[in-house]
Amino acid sequence: MCAEFKEFSEKDKINPPKEFVEKANLKSYDEYKKMYEDSVKNREDFWARMAEEKVDWFKKWDKVNEEDLSKGEINWFVNGKLNVSYNCLDRHLKTHRRNKAAIIWEGDEGESKTYTYQQLHQEVCKFANVLKAQGVKKGDRVAIYLPMVPELPVAMLACARIGAIHSIIFAGFSPDSIKDRVLDCEAKVIITSDESVRGGKIVPLKDNVDKAAENLDVVEKIIVLERTSGDINMKEGRDVWWHEEMKKADDKCEPEEMDAEDPLFILYTSGSTGKPKGVLHTTGGYLLYTQMTTEYIFDIKDDDVYWCTADIGWITGHSYIVYGPLASGATTLVFEGVPTYPEPDRFWQVVEKYKVNIFYTAPTALRALKKAGDEWIENRDLSSLRLLGTVGEPINPEVWSWYHYVIGQEKCPIVDTWWQTETGGILISPIPGAIPTKPGYATVPFFGVEPLILKDENNECDTNETGFLVINKSWPSMLRGVYGDHERFMNTYLKAFPGYYMTGDGAFVDEDGYVRLTGRIDDVINVSGHRMGTAEVESALVEHDAVVEAAVVGVPHDVKGEGIYAYCILSEGYDKSGDLKKDLINHVRDSIGPIAKPEDIHFVDGLPKTRSGKIMRRILRKVAEGETDKSKLGDTTTLAEPEVVDHIIDTKGKF
Ligand code: WTA
Repeated sequence: MCAEFKEFSEKDKINPPKEFVEKANLKSYDEYKKMYEDSVKNREDFWARMAEEKVDWFKKWDKVNEEDLSKGEINWFVNGKLNVSYNCLDRHLKTHRRNKAAIIWEGDEGESKTYTYQQLHQEVCKFANVLKAQGVKKGDRVAIYLPMVPELPVAMLACARIGAIHSIIFAGFSPDSIKDRVLDCEAKVIITSDESVRGGKIVPLKDNVDKAAENLDVVEKIIVLERTSGDINMKEGRDVWWHEEMKKADDKCEPEEMDAEDPLFILYTSGSTGKPKGVLHTTGGYLLYTQMTTEYIFDIKDDDVYWCTADIGWITGHSYIVYGPLASGATTLVFEGVPTYPEPDRFWQVVEKYKVNIFYTAPTALRALKKAGDEWIENRDLSSLRLLGTVGEPINPEVWSWYHYVIGQEKCPIVDTWWQTETGGILISPIPGAIPTKPGYATVPFFGVEPLILKDENNECDTNETGFLVINKSWPSMLRGVYGDHERFMNTYLKAFPGYYMTGDGAFVDEDGYVRLTGRIDDVINVSGHRMGTAEVESALVEHDAVVEAAVVGVPHDVKGEGIYAYCILSEGYDKSGDLKKDLINHVRDSIGPIAKPEDIHFVDGLPKTRSGKIMRRILRKVAEGETDKSKLGDTTTLAEPEVVDHIIDTKGKF
């Protein structure tokens, strides 16, 4: 298990504050229980009712759900027709929400812009026509590599409007990472900006795209948004400016009628092995599920200002900055900056400026802000806050308590939401108002979700016993596949425990029936809430001439949660030196992106392998954490060369 917790002594649950409960969507545990039981016992009726109530359909479905997990076939709302951008925009224009702020944008230096639902609709229609004019058709893939600017949701919704499948690439990724993704999904258009600004730093986005698109025949057009007016190259015939094309575009564009199972987007995420996988999400189930979870878990009200601090380049931004909130008709804040620039009170300053009511962030950001000191909070007015959320990694109970007492002033419930890129939406979380919380616990499943903790294929764990977290049956926003690789989809998620979706996380359920996540059980490292596959970092290292073999593990890090620690065996002719270490660290950064930068590199002459050649990461992890007592490393008898262990202990902290 990657994240081990100290036992939390406070046994008592924290009840939701009275003033919150009074206005909450769900007000009691009994209400939750009744609705939950109905959702699993009468699964199809429950989802049919929700789909009818929450989503506008052009044509109703014939059957709610059809699935065979043993074949990886999952269908929701069979033959139903709808359009996601219609549900996020057009339907609100017929209501009082027409002139309500849909998006509030806060720029890196404090610039600000607001788009009402009507204005956002107009921008989306125009950009949908720009995409059409550039040759994009229903089913085509469009890669988006943009900073956190309002044009990013505009581009997403424009794709959804015409039935193009977007694949967003986090704007911190390197040219090689862009190239891998663009090639894998064969994106014919890339949308980017000249540069990005984040925490006062400029990143050359267009330049990165140019490097990635060199000799890439699949890419026909690159649409470039002007963000900084920095100097860039525009390639004649391939590159066009966003603003010039928008001037020519009509502001009317009928939404395409999409099937409930037509793809909406592909989002790449890291796994245990190989290159990142293109997680595929479709239209109807994803929309319904993200909207419903937004409404129940964030308890959104019409006059709320809702802020999720994630980047839209990750799933949290897709589901809970863009699709869920906009489908719910909420006001969603898009923030370009970082928590600590120009000062560590940036988040609280934004909360004060816009009177944010609902605030959703990651434990890593909270740890950094807690560390910066409470003086950054004392002069800020946080009285608008009424609900707090976290996502991305297990939250340490100490940090949870700080969030509760210092930020929330004991008047805001905290929703610790557990989910994944693959799950599309939140699967385990308190429903504020109804579920008492407990520090460190994601608590209870959302409606229709049936989690189990397994010891092995045939046995469930006992109370308080940690095991594999799996989900029985599909839920509407479950991934439908790995783009272009059905076998990988089956092998990664559906084969280990037949009949169940395997999450890759460890968890246990306590005597209250509350779920607590304990961390990844596979070779995925969670760095600041971002998933990194050990295999990806290892292959970046061995690309370098100096490295013959590499093994990467996660080590506890007090702000990032986990950091990357790399063991490297050097090629003939290379000396172990501090300069080479720096070189290799920079090489990984350039090859994948800054989030993949190892904390440390440990040069070794051998790696602990079993006789069948498998690296024993358990040992590497312990040594990286500082364990020097060989007897505490667990069983080493199956190692091919047990003396390697002495060697890696001896060389720790040297080169
Ligand atoms: C971890 C992010 C504990 C988990 C939405 C999962 C969490 C991985 C939590 C998915 C949480 C996410 N408590 N762990 N509340 N939320 N995780 O795909 O290990 O970027 O498998 O999706 O983050 O990361 P992903």
